[in-house]
Amino acid sequence: MSTQPNLNSSNRVRVSIVGASGYTGGEVLRLLLGHPQVEIVQVTSESNAGKHVYSIHPNLRKLTNLQFVSSTTLQPVDVLFLALPHGEAQKRIEHFAALAPYLIDLSADFRLYHLDVYQKHYEEAHLAPTWVEKFVYGLPEINREKLRGAHYASGVGCNATASTLALLPLVKAGLIDPQRPITVDLKVGSSEGGATSSPASHHPERSGVVRTFAAVGHRHEAEVAQSLALNNVYLTVNSIELVRGVMATAQVFAAPGVDDKTLWKAYRAAYGEESFVRIVHDKTGIHRHPEPKWLAGTNFADVGWEVQPETGRIVALCAIDNLGKGAAGSAVQCMNLMLGLPETAGLGFSGLHP
Ligand SMILES: NC(=O)c1ccc[n+]([C@@H]2O[C@H](COP(=O)([O-])OP(=O)(O)OC[C@H]3O[C@@H](n4cnc5c(N)ncnc54)[C@H](OP(=O)(O)O)[C@@H]3O)[C@@H](O)[C@H]2O)c1
Repeated sequence: MSTQPNLNSSNRVRVSIVGASGYTGGEVLRLLLGHPQVEIVQVTSESNAGKHVYSIHPNLRKLTNLQFVSSTTLQPVDVLFLALPHGEAQKRIEHFAALAPYLIDLSADFRLYHLDVYQKHYEEAHLAPTWVEKFVYGLPEINREKLRGAHYASGVGCNATASTLALLPLVKAGLIDPQRPITVDLKVGSSEGGATSSPASHHPERSGVVRTFAAVGHRHEAEVAQSLALNNVYLTVNSIELVRGVMATAQVFAAPGVDDKTLWKAYRAAYGEESFVRIVHDKTGIHRHPEPKWLAGTNFADVGWEVQPETGRIVALCAIDNLGKGAAGSAVQCMNLMLGLPETAGLGFSGLHP
């Protein structure tokens, strides 16, 4: 496959976003408005067609004068981002592929490589089974080489991303005892649920809660298992008082004797060259562990750990912004890789402190 982007005369990649009034679509738009090599052509919303983008995404006022259009009016472009609810992309994938040589779908429609796994976890048959194998799972930290020059990338699950990035160094270094289960507790913000309200997101019901909403059987378990080639990883997901953010706390057992030095080596080997994964592991101080608050709006994932050498118990940590590294940030990073652009283009900014 060609690795050459289909650049127009202004040397910019022409991009449209389907579902741009939603949270991940809006975040892709925010990131791409700051991307040096992208021209946004169209942004779609069926319920907001004709409205200015800033009426839905007030943070983008004066940064764009674009108005939402219906997805029925989409024109051909170089890259199409799909940020639709689950199941919508697979219904119309042929149509979208006819409009753009490069597709990046943020939904779960094309994340799982095996149809039987998809059917088991989503409890439905896939509507575009021949397209599944065309997509590369869009987490650059595990699939960088496959993404270079690829034409179709899936997005990533936000809980899956935090879990995978916490565990990846331990898997790569062969430190995990395969006989023991790996459990990941996830604390997540309300924007994971998207822009459409529900009884669970109604403010008096959502604000201030610590609510376990997926004690067992969360769908992202399948993504983590696929990414890390594990069959003993279990997620529990809890809503907490946060708008953006995922905090993954994984409990893993290694052979007794594993120590801090071994883990430093494993995490450095996995992430020393990564632009967007940072090791946060200090002996003292209030910032000695990863914390999602400082990552809101960024494409960073912060990872850390603690270890008890006498038992071999490792607590592996990863914090991300679910809309950043857990969705739009990774998607833009994928686009850069697919088109042969600098991988960090449009993504090199920090979060806020305090
Ligand atoms: N939220 C997260 O943290 C997160 C993280 C990773 C991945 N994801 C995935 O990203 C996708 C989008 O999530 P989101 O949180 O951005 O959802 P969202 O805020 O609800 O946005 C969905 C968008 O799709 C449009 N839409 C809804 N139904 C449609 C339909 N039937 N046909 C065409 N357009 C439709 C909506 O606007 P109109 O109805 O006006 O067109 C809206 O623009 C989901 O598949 C989700 O699983 C979400």
